[in-house]
Order: sequence, then structure tokens, then C-alpha cells
Amino acid sequence: MLQECGFMCGIFGYIGSHDAVQIIRDGLSRLEYRGYDSAGIEVAHSIRKCVGPVCNLDTTGLAGFAGVGHTRWATTGAVTVDNAHPHSDCSGEISVVHNGIIENWREVRSCLPDHNFKSDTDSEVIAHLLERCSISDIPRTLASHLVGSFAVIIHYGGVLIGIRHESPLVVGHTSHGTILSSDVYPLIGVADKVAYLENDDAVFAFEDGFKIYDSHGNPVHRPLCDLPSSQVGALNSDHYMLQEISEQGDTIQRAISQSPGTIERISDMVATAHGIMFVACGSSYHACLTGAYMFSKIAGKHVNVIVGSEFEHYRHFLEPGTLVVAVSQSGETADVLNAVRIAKSANSNVVCITNVVESSLYRASDELLIMNSGPEICVLSTKTYTSQVVLLALLAAACVGDTTSIKRDVQSLCVDVFNMTSQSMRNYVMQLAMILSDVEHLYTIGSGPLYPTAMEAALKIKEVSYIHAEAFSAGELKHGPIALIEPGTPVIAFGSVPNAVDEIKSRGGYIIGVAAKHNPAFDFWIKVPDSGYFDPIVQIIPMQLLAYDLALIRDCDPDRPRNLAKCVTVR
Ligand code: AGP
Repeated sequence: MLQECGFMCGIFGYIGSHDAVQIIRDGLSRLEYRGYDSAGIEVAHSIRKCVGPVCNLDTTGLAGFAGVGHTRWATTGAVTVDNAHPHSDCSGEISVVHNGIIENWREVRSCLPDHNFKSDTDSEVIAHLLERCSISDIPRTLASHLVGSFAVIIHYGGVLIGIRHESPLVVGHTSHGTILSSDVYPLIGVADKVAYLENDDAVFAFEDGFKIYDSHGNPVHRPLCDLPSSQVGALNSDHYMLQEISEQGDTIQRAISQSPGTIERISDMVATAHGIMFVACGSSYHACLTGAYMFSKIAGKHVNVIVGSEFEHYRHFLEPGTLVVAVSQSGETADVLNAVRIAKSANSNVVCITNVVESSLYRASDELLIMNSGPEICVLSTKTYTSQVVLLALLAAACVGDTTSIKRDVQSLCVDVFNMTSQSMRNYVMQLAMILSDVEHLYTIGSGPLYPTAMEAALKIKEVSYIHAEAFSAGELKHGPIALIEPGTPVIAFGSVPNAVDEIKSRGGYIIGVAAKHNPAFDFWIKVPDSGYFDPIVQIIPMQLLAYDLALIRDCDPDRPRNLAKCVTVR
């Protein structure tokens, strides 16, 4: 049963025989893509906090074999040292890190009038609530007092207690101790096995091992699974964004290698569906919009594409035969999980396309398509976006029983993608970035499947360079947006949209053409191969590079843009 999901922080804990300070610091650094406005650590009941990234944390003099840590993306309470986690109770014996939202925190706090609260956060109530509670009673106390979603790690009486209520929490087994973490990524190369907690599980971790209990307090066994290889997620370039852009020649190949049985089952679900809905957010939503054009063109199928946060307004279309395809690289996006909850309550079928095995979406879906892109660390989606588009094209082709030709087309597409990420393309795009680096406003236009490409390009530029970039369908321009065009206004035009280009040119706009064929109206031309229905893929890659270069020139962090986080678990 899926409930509302919470917050966007990273929580981490360690108990064992090794130096907890370094293990927790390393773990937090690898969780920072989840939120990076402030951080904190507690070891041996001594707490250190900072505003900004984990590298700002001063842990001089801290020592011990057990503790907790946190990286924050603020929602309740401003970005301050006091509001950073860990939070402790009045005695300082209980330290808590939390990922989620305590919806009834004000009521709980008002029932603890004699306590000395030090922050404006919802999370701190957890520490004070547990003040006169025995360790074994902790899960029941939180379950009975708190409303919302919470993954929590508590360090109390020489034990680490982890509780999962909606927000994800995993347990890492090592030869020297136990790790608790928001996700599996910080365990890679550190732990030897991982156990995924089910909803409302509690784990008690001691120096010599751990025990897991279900929501009724019964001991349960959660399988210890292998971890992805230690190469995954290693940074071999200036930034993860550039590295992940450059991986796309390989990742689209991995996306297309799916089990024929799964593809066949899903294409049967499409064939018998009473209506098909794609639901997603952000870049994944743009991939779904592109996928809808492919379903229309290749499979002759109509698809409703709905943005996650709007899905509940379409619930009356749902019926037992409806097929909902939920697309989310992280598998933890709250608006998508909420849409799946609504679909499930109408007994609709749910297929998911995700990049994270064992994510909440993975666990909630009837059929699973794993993107195999490898972890995407940069907050901006690049390689996962193109993998989603390729996977949706594969599904569309499977609906007409022809996956062979699409797999053949992907082979030549890979060559085009390698060329799009070549050094010469990078040098050429850098010239454009230099031209555009001081603009305040920039527009993108496209038609058909290249309209979502224009949307995705605008999103990439917005997210990482903070330039106001806006996308329009080329045909819509003359119905209003063209009023924005004045001499020198930059417009990126995808594919062949000659009328719109002429309309912009006649008002002095500066036109950047991304197209196979030249147009004399172009002031800057990025020549791309004609890749047919894969044009959205070859045409977005130069834009990913442009966004990256604009960020570098404007001194913005390409991997951790302001105000964003990689996985949006808040509604
Ligand atoms: C894209 O660059 C952003 N990171 C964001 O829009 C993202 O696509 C959106 O939050 C959806 O994430 P998901 O695919 O993990 O669900």
C-alpha cells in the first residue's frame, strides 16, 4: 500500500569496530545529490553541523564507533545550523536524523511543553518524543504518534535504530559493522551485502550485527542482496554531468536490451488496455511526451500523457482495464508514486520504467522495465532521459511486433550519439555557449516529437545556468509568444520549422538551428544527422552540452544546481 512520500534528504548511520567519523563523512558525501544545503554528524553523542556541503563539516576531535549523519534539502525550517540534523533530546543522549515529513509535528510539539526545542524543524519532535521511551518501544511510539512519511535513524543507548515509513531505508552488511542509509549508492564498495527494508520495518543494529522486525514487532528476514559493482558512480571526468552525457552511446544500448518476455507481456497489456496513460515529472515527463508521438506514429496508439502532480484530476478516467505507464529514473518521485497509488486504487495495471531496482516505484508496479543506465549522480537527467525515449520507442515497436528493426536502428543511433558527444562537437557548442552566456531570456521551438525536445532543452538550460529559457511549439509562436521576440533575442529551433524561423527572423531574432539541413536564416547552425524517429535523441545531446558549458561560463555548479535535488520525494 503506497502512502504520501516525504522529503529529499540523505540519512546515514554506522555502528561497528571502525572509525565511525570517516565512514559517515564518506557516506554523506555520496548522498549529497539528494540534498546539499546543510549537513551534520553525531558520534559518541557529540554533534557537529554546517550550512552548505558536507566538506564544510568540522569533525576535528570527533571519535567513536557509532553515529549518524544527514544531508539536507530544507522544507520545514530555513537553511541554518540549528535546523540542520542531527537533532537531539533535552538530555543529549538520543540523536536523530530524519528523511520525510512529519505532518502533525506542531500538535506533537505542543504536547511537549517542558522540552527545550532548539530548531524550527518538524524532525526535532522525534528526539523529544522518545525521551522517556525504552529502546524496544521506539517503533511503536513513532508509529502511534507520528503522521506523515519518515525514514529515521536513531542513536540511543549504544544501539542504532532505523525505521522505514514510506521514505526509503536500506541496511548494509560489512565485516566490521552495520550501515543504515537512505539508498544503496553510499554502500557501493563499502558494504558486501544490502537488505531493503519493507514499509514499516524497524532495524536494530548493534556492534556485532542487526535484527529486523516488521510493523507488528515480529522478527523478519529481509534477503541480503548483492551490491552493484564498485565502478558504478565513480567520477572520471570534471563533473558527473559531462561524464553522464558522454556515456549515452552505451546507455541507450543497455536500455534496449530488455527481456523479450517482459516486452511481449507489456505489449499485450497495451493491446488489451482500456486507455493508456503515461505519468511522470520533469525530464521523464518530456520523455513520455516524446514517447506518445512514437506510440501514435509507430503503433497507431493514442496515449494520454499526464504530469505527475496533475494525475489526481484524471482519476475518473481510470478503470480496471486502464494501463498506466509510470516513468521515473529514481523511482522515488512522490507525485509519480501518488499517481500509482491512485491507479492501484482503481485496479488499473501499472507498468514502470525506472533506473533503480528496489525503488518504491519498482516495488509498487505490476510490470518492470529497468533502464540499466547506472546511477545518475548529476541532479540533471541526461543519460536517463535518452534511455527512457529509446525504451518507449521499443515498446511502441513491440506493439506492432517489430522490435528487430528498432534494435537495428539503435545500432546506427549509437554511432550518431558518439559523434554528438565528440570533442569537436563539444568545442563547437562551447562557441555557442560563449555567445549566449550573458543572455537573460532564451526560447526554444520545435514541432511534433521535437516540441518535447524543445521543452527538455529549455529545462536543462534553466536548471543549470539559471537563464530563463522557455519552450513553445513552433506553430504556437504566432498566437502570442512571438511578442517576446526583439532584435537579438536568441531562439533555438529544432528540426525543420521554416515558417516559425522566418517569423522570428523578420523581427530580428538570433536563430540557432539544430537540424540536419541548413537554413540561410540560421545565425548559428548545429548540424545533426537525420535520425528519423530518433531525432529527439541526437538533437537533445548538443543542448545538454550547451547547458553544461553555460553553467561553467556562468560559474554555476553543473552537478548540484541551486534549489534542486536529484530525487523529489515531496509533493
Ligand atoms: C531533470 O533534470 C530533473 N532532475 C527533474 O526534472 C527530474 O526529471 C524529475 O524530478 C523527475 O525525476 P524522476 O525521473 O526521478 O522521477
